[in-house]
Amino acid sequence: MPLNIVIGTQWGDEGKGRIVDLLAAQADIVARFNGGDNAGHTVTVGKRTFKLHLIPSGIIHPHTMGVLGNGMVINPTTFMSEVDMLQTAGVAAGPERLRISHAAHLITPAHRALDQAQEASRGSAQIGTTGRGIGPAYTSKATRNGVRMEDMLDPYPFADKIKRHVEDINKVLVSMYSADPLDAVTVGREYEHYARMIAPYIADTGSLVHTALKQGKRVLAEGAQGTLLDIDHGTYPFVTSSSSTAAGVFCGLGLGIVPVCDVVGVTKAFQTRVGAGPFPTEVFGKTAERLRGSGKNPWDEFGTTTGRPRRVGWLDGILLGYALRVNGVTELMITKLDILSGLSNLRLCTAYQAGDEIVSELPLGPGRLEPYEPVYEELAGWDEDVTGVRKWSHLPEAARAYVGRIAEFCGVPVRRVSVGPERDQVVDVSS
Ligand code: GDP
Ligand code: IMO
Ligand code: MG
Repeated sequence: MPLNIVIGTQWGDEGKGRIVDLLAAQADIVARFNGGDNAGHTVTVGKRTFKLHLIPSGIIHPHTMGVLGNGMVINPTTFMSEVDMLQTAGVAAGPERLRISHAAHLITPAHRALDQAQEASRGSAQIGTTGRGIGPAYTSKATRNGVRMEDMLDPYPFADKIKRHVEDINKVLVSMYSADPLDAVTVGREYEHYARMIAPYIADTGSLVHTALKQGKRVLAEGAQGTLLDIDHGTYPFVTSSSSTAAGVFCGLGLGIVPVCDVVGVTKAFQTRVGAGPFPTEVFGKTAERLRGSGKNPWDEFGTTTGRPRRVGWLDGILLGYALRVNGVTELMITKLDILSGLSNLRLCTAYQAGDEIVSELPLGPGRLEPYEPVYEELAGWDEDVTGVRKWSHLPEAARAYVGRIAEFCGVPVRRVSVGPERDQVVDVSS
């Protein structure tokens, strides 16, 4: 079956959006299976830059169909504004080419208020969430108090359901967090309005994707967040609330265990993280400023969703190796190689050290990184601007050696590297 999966192998923002856009040229359906509008996926096509939070990045190609799977949590305000943004840019985004699973859960203003109240109450132990209500929406789902997209199909009971949902969360907001309650009737009315607009998009997307695969159509699953933010396999508790690893595709799209062609791992040429939590290879000072950028370029390391400066560091081969294992990654795409131009030396973390003990595998996964210091291998940098390079053999020798060492260390082939955000700024390793 022609199912391909794109997964972030780090803490998100690896450049999944641009890689999905690249691969969507050969896909019929592009489907998100996890997360919500905490994601921010950037696609640059010529002078236009699209920042997508909910709608799959493959939608920019006019021949594709976009699916928002049951594993997602949907903020209807974001969905409608993204539809508007796309239509204004001349990208069709009506129900004829976009479908939302009937079983995906809704995010409400009550979830967002709770997310923010919970973060505030954590004090110095804050996770640094995006404040989009993601954790509370998945909590409602797991405690069986959630509101699903299918509830929107009947606007009157739906408005009442939303009203009761807000009243329930108000009790928690007021009694546990001394926060202001929301106006449940107003939210109910607002959501009734959304229900009328969104109802035509709602479908049994599991059946749709399954049928497409049986017909030999090509489906591309677009991961949001990254492996180290996965609720089970990430740097818990500094994670998101969904399954962002490859296995999440089956559950989050309503598929059985069907064969997969490629699991494409997207890896930035260095390491970034937005939000709190351990980050062994984090750097500060001049190198950090260099890797992060000043914020003037659209690709500088400032969050697509929240605008927060991202923490930056050297590529962590230990965490990368772990990510490749838990996802079953078959090939790597390395992004932002151009950013490393001009650094005299590069560092790649190839082991962890705690006292006298040196490890190359994490004894208990990435939930317990605090005891470790990174052990680095030094590699030569290069000065040349590589943004205009399109052939592997034209990249500086040191750049090829850096990519080659990553592939060798991790034991997974690197298929392409990107040297800029635009569609054509990609180098095939076999070219
Ligand atoms: P995602 O969440 O994984 O889709 O990644 P984001 O879109 O949040 O962040 C990646 C940023 O890097 C975006 O601004 C992209 O346009 C940009 N980008 C992607 N690939 C490259 C590249 O090869 N070089 C440069 N300079 N920027 C890139
Ligand atoms: P994309 O798809 C980077 C991070 C938040 C926070 C943690 C929990 O663009 O790669 P949440 O709001 O999900 O409860 O926040 O997860 N986070 C991301 N970081 N990229 C993302 O998505 C992220 N989505 C969530 O910063 O640390
Ligand atoms: Mg992002």
